[in-house]
Amino acid sequence: MTLDSANLIRYVTASFSCGEVRLKKSIAVLFCIAGLTVSIATYAAGDIDTGREKAFTCTGCHSSPGMRNAYPGYNVPKLGGQHAAYIIAALKGYKSKERSHPTMQAHASTMSEQDMADIAEYFASLGAE
Ligand code: HEC
Repeated sequence: MTLDSANLIRYVTASFSCGEVRLKKSIAVLFCIAGLTVSIATYAAGDIDTGREKAFTCTGCHSSPGMRNAYPGYNVPKLGGQHAAYIIAALKGYKSKERSHPTMQAHASTMSEQDMADIAEYFASLGAE
């Protein structure tokens, strides 16, 4: 039996809505947890020091005092202390053009998953100070 995510969702929904035997529910939940663990494990691990170097161009905008770009003056979202997963999701959004912003799309378009992970880890670590 192949369990792709659509099937899994159908399976979980079915066993929950029909109120089938308890055992089935826990098997479905187990499959969910197993899937989650796999996706976490395959996530590229970020390195803070590498990220600091790679984030050099980013900090011109994202780490400026008051989080404003110096010139021309406009607001820039704060990245320091942001969750790594959030930053990665945002960068992937720009890269895939799901999120629109010309500057950020240009930055993200050249970034590998590893670059994103390193940079995200670096910015996330800034919040701990
Ligand atoms: C020229 C200024 C500038 C530079 C350089 C820059 N950014 Fe941005 N960044 C912005 C602006 C402005 C936004 C808000 C765009 C929007 O509204 O989606 C943004 C948004 C983001 C977001 C989404 C934040 C959120 O809370 O939604 C992330 C993540 C991000 N930038 C990461 C980076 C990284 C990593 C780099 C370096 C590779 C970088 N940026 C370089 C200006 C810049």
